[in-house]
Amino acid sequence: MKFGHFDDDAREYVIETPKTPYPWINYLGSESYFALLSNTGGGYSFYRDAKMRRLLRYRYNNIPTDIGGRYTFINDGGDVWTPTWLPVKADLDFYECRHGMGYSVITGERGGLRAETTYLVPLGETAEVQKIKFTNTSGTAKSFKAWTYVEFCLWNAEDDQTNYQRNLSLAEVEIELNEDDGAATFSAIYHKTEYRERRDHYAVYAVNQRTSGFDTDRDAFVGLYNYLGEAQVPREGQCHNSVASGWYPVGVHQLDVTLAPGESKEIVVVLGYVENPDAEKWADGKHQIINKQRAHALVQRFATAAAVDAAVAELKAYWTDLLSTYKVKSTDEKLDRMVNIWNQYQCMVTFNMSRSASYFETGIGRGMGFRDSNQDLLGFVHLVPERARERIIDIASTQFPDGSAYHQYQPLTKRGNHNLGSGFNDDPMWLVAGVAGYLKETGDFGILDAPVPFDNEPGSEVPLFEHLKRSFDFVLNHLGPHGLPLIGRADWNDCLNLNCFSTTPGESFQTTENQAGGVAESTFIGAQFVLYGRDYAALAERRGLVDEAARARAAVEQMEHAMLEHGWDGNWFLRAYDYYGKPVGTDIDPEGKIWIEPQGFAIMAGIGVDSKDPSSSEFKESKAGKTLAAVEQHLGTPHGMVLQHPAYTTYQVQLGEVSTYPPGYKENGGIFCHNNPWVIIAETVVGDGASAFDHYKRITPAYREEISEIHRLEPYVYAQMIAGKEAPKHGEAKNSWLTGTAAWNFVTASQYLLGVRPDYDGLVVDPQIGPDVPSFTVTRKARGATYVIDVVNSGKPGSRAKLVVDGKPIEGQTVPYAPPGAEVHVTATL
Ligand code: GLC
Ligand code: GLC
Repeated sequence: MKFGHFDDDAREYVIETPKTPYPWINYLGSESYFALLSNTGGGYSFYRDAKMRRLLRYRYNNIPTDIGGRYTFINDGGDVWTPTWLPVKADLDFYECRHGMGYSVITGERGGLRAETTYLVPLGETAEVQKIKFTNTSGTAKSFKAWTYVEFCLWNAEDDQTNYQRNLSLAEVEIELNEDDGAATFSAIYHKTEYRERRDHYAVYAVNQRTSGFDTDRDAFVGLYNYLGEAQVPREGQCHNSVASGWYPVGVHQLDVTLAPGESKEIVVVLGYVENPDAEKWADGKHQIINKQRAHALVQRFATAAAVDAAVAELKAYWTDLLSTYKVKSTDEKLDRMVNIWNQYQCMVTFNMSRSASYFETGIGRGMGFRDSNQDLLGFVHLVPERARERIIDIASTQFPDGSAYHQYQPLTKRGNHNLGSGFNDDPMWLVAGVAGYLKETGDFGILDAPVPFDNEPGSEVPLFEHLKRSFDFVLNHLGPHGLPLIGRADWNDCLNLNCFSTTPGESFQTTENQAGGVAESTFIGAQFVLYGRDYAALAERRGLVDEAARARAAVEQMEHAMLEHGWDGNWFLRAYDYYGKPVGTDIDPEGKIWIEPQGFAIMAGIGVDSKDPSSSEFKESKAGKTLAAVEQHLGTPHGMVLQHPAYTTYQVQLGEVSTYPPGYKENGGIFCHNNPWVIIAETVVGDGASAFDHYKRITPAYREEISEIHRLEPYVYAQMIAGKEAPKHGEAKNSWLTGTAAWNFVTASQYLLGVRPDYDGLVVDPQIGPDVPSFTVTRKARGATYVIDVVNSGKPGSRAKLVVDGKPIEGQTVPYAPPGAEVHVTATL
């Protein structure tokens, strides 16, 4: 069952009912001001850091879910309603929500009045803007009242929810009612809590209109014992002009609107974040009245609906340009819309948010992850390489001299997070992955010479390349008895905690190591080391470090050997050795026999790959062949591949958090979408495009749109998890938006299924998508040149494309990079 449809030309998903199976959200903003916005107007906003600079309050775990956001209440002749349906929940005669690239348009109509609201964060602004267009669709003249509404957060979102003894006495606002600045009339509410002391910023909430009242005290507007949907002012019809003093500050503007039949009127609402340098904080000598100059300038920039329209047009053009770097035209419209639009858009959002703020992440928990951000970069780097470069330097600056790293850092300070610390032994090699991805895209080898500190310590700077060496050596300096990497607190799988042994409720599985001196090893890190160790060797070679490159290759070869010798269970790769040196992920065990992570990653790294013809008997006898067959047999489901099987039915103290989840959820046998692409890439590596594309479709949202009642989350973005086959609600998704799934699936689809991937010296063209997509054209911009690649695809297992470049056949799969400005024509025939 569908609840909307894709409008690919507009690059929008059109939601047709407010009663979606879960709130379906969008993100506004891509620079420093960000907003979450659901299809019923819910959500919140923040400046740079979702924890430290929260503008709007939002209550997770609310009843009903998703109350709190930006609302317009209407009283039309006694009929009170909200065009976003929530919070009043009066039935609408028409409803539509269009989520686009960085903007949304929500329309509601009732009783002959239509309100269409466009929401966006204009480029270059630290503000969100709404344009509300009221239209009288009835046959008679209408006079009605409307109230715009937001609830302010007292900046630190965590403190805001916990420290009531202080906070309820803090709130302060200033108000300008029907100010005439010469050009236009506007009304503005200024939220200035804590500005009197150490803050240098406030929020402005303004409308470009004459207003007939305001409220800034929540109880005055809503009524102490009312739900928000029962707010008293819209029912009574008149604001109290309340001035918040402590308690709960809100912003409400009251509008009187008169419309002839068929007439429309547009109103602009601005919510902005304003910072004033210390010397310019105040407008008066007594330090009581805030300096509003910057706020006024902002309000003036959006004094007209035309200014908002221009900002929307600019945003659309920005996205047209971004999305022109990689485009496909194939016979499968779902594939095209994921690759051309939504998957890339989600990559931008994950790059910006990391795992901080979504409808499943409160914004007060996590900062930027070392491992997560490096992976996010792989799906983002082609969009804005300069920002990827900056990110690499930020991440590497949190590394320690021994190559280990803070697992997370705060985006506002860029400092490592002490609470979580270090000890995730897969972290170091992700830096190599991120840097290699960046270099293949850009060729900016100069970054390897950029001075980068350790742990942000001034004076400790070494060239970035040295950081990669430390990453590489970290693994080699932490090997276990089988020659495989020690796992530390966890590897990619945060819930495989082999040194934790926790029996205390609430103790963190990730930061606790109750037992020391174990020999727990990870085959995942082993495979990761082989894959990215090769990149490290290649980079060393390019720097003329012949000996270092040889040393690296030898170490990689030895690891490959250890994987084949000690990382193999007979039909698939083992997952780990536990604290006592006992194998994890072995057929001998009744549960957790086979885990997905090392299977995909080992084959991606070429481990156990003896044949690249999946139809040959040689392949079927090979380790890779056996592994992929076992993966489909044990892990495959119609909704994607589960993380391991069978899931653990009881708590396993020696394995840690993985066994805390009921079977079928999260890392315990859930379909953890992040690692499905590793198997899919593995399948392309061995030339099995048909299986690869099949597995891709099972988790990719556009292909799941028809089962939205089961999947429940947005059909335009990936979710981190889909409940596995042992869960009662198999197929139900959770944790949409902020997941490494976004980057990995874009890499998978664009670079491996469609097969166009940047390498150090050229663009590799090596599609493996099976027979379902017989022909397609990829347009790829890389290093200033444009490549138009026409693919004719037999879909035959094991076949590789024969390339003709500008009319000349070439050997191999690499099209050398052309000079900037060139247009290169490639035909690829499989
Ligand atoms: C979450 C974390 C990621 C981890 C994964 C598996 O997605 O953000 O860092 O690798 O879970 O545990
Ligand atoms: C939980 C989640 C895992 C996440 C970790 C760190 O363990 O299951 O996915 O990575 O928390 O926040």
